[in-house]
Amino acid sequence: MQLRNAMNNIKIITSTTREGRKGIAVANWITELVKQGNKYNVELLDLAVINLPFMDEPSHPRLKQYQHEHTKKWSATINEADAFIIVLAEYNFGFPAPIKNAIDYLYAEWMHKPIAFVSYGGVSGGLRSTQMLKQVVTAIHMMPVVDQVNIPFFGKYINGEGIFTADEVIVKSAEVMLKELEKWTEALKALRQ
Ligand SMILES: Cc1cc2nc3c(=O)[nH]c(=O)nc-3n(C[C@H](O)[C@H](O)[C@H](O)COP(=O)(O)O)c2cc1C
Repeated sequence: MQLRNAMNNIKIITSTTREGRKGIAVANWITELVKQGNKYNVELLDLAVINLPFMDEPSHPRLKQYQHEHTKKWSATINEADAFIIVLAEYNFGFPAPIKNAIDYLYAEWMHKPIAFVSYGGVSGGLRSTQMLKQVVTAIHMMPVVDQVNIPFFGKYINGEGIFTADEVIVKSAEVMLKELEKWTEALKALRQ
């Protein structure tokens, strides 16, 4: 398939915000990998830095009657995206609250865009969390990409400097996921136009 627009915008979003969180190491790794592919304008959105409060808008996001500056800023950031990757932890067999909160703030800005997942955790590698969040994003008309990267016992890939180094299997699964994401990025861009 020929790419009609080689440089779409992709936003890579973290899911955790706690002090000492390890997900940022995984997020930095996938961000670099996507940059190397040179298929997207890449931006890493770190929810710990963006620091959204618990969803505090009086109206349903469908109405876009945003009262708060943080929402207007978040809306503009998500609106310019053509594709997303969520770097997803698993908290108590489910998705961490900050990513659900960030999603709930908006509606049309997410709509008809593809969303892929890089999950990490213990033995499950964040699989349960991913399956749960895939269901949620369909409510806002997003297209969850089937191929996903799941990283069990992810801590063993992070060194003392907080650098995540993927093995061959993880890199391969990321390449498969990114290929699929690129297809959906083009298909859904056409659909939105
Ligand atoms: C509140 C909490 C709940 C957790 N529950 C799970 C879990 O259900 N499954 C899992 O694989 N790991 C679980 N863990 C371990 C996380 O995989 C690990 O702490 C990871 O570093 C969390 O991501 P973060 O460092 O980006 O916050 C949990 C960790 C926390 C803090």
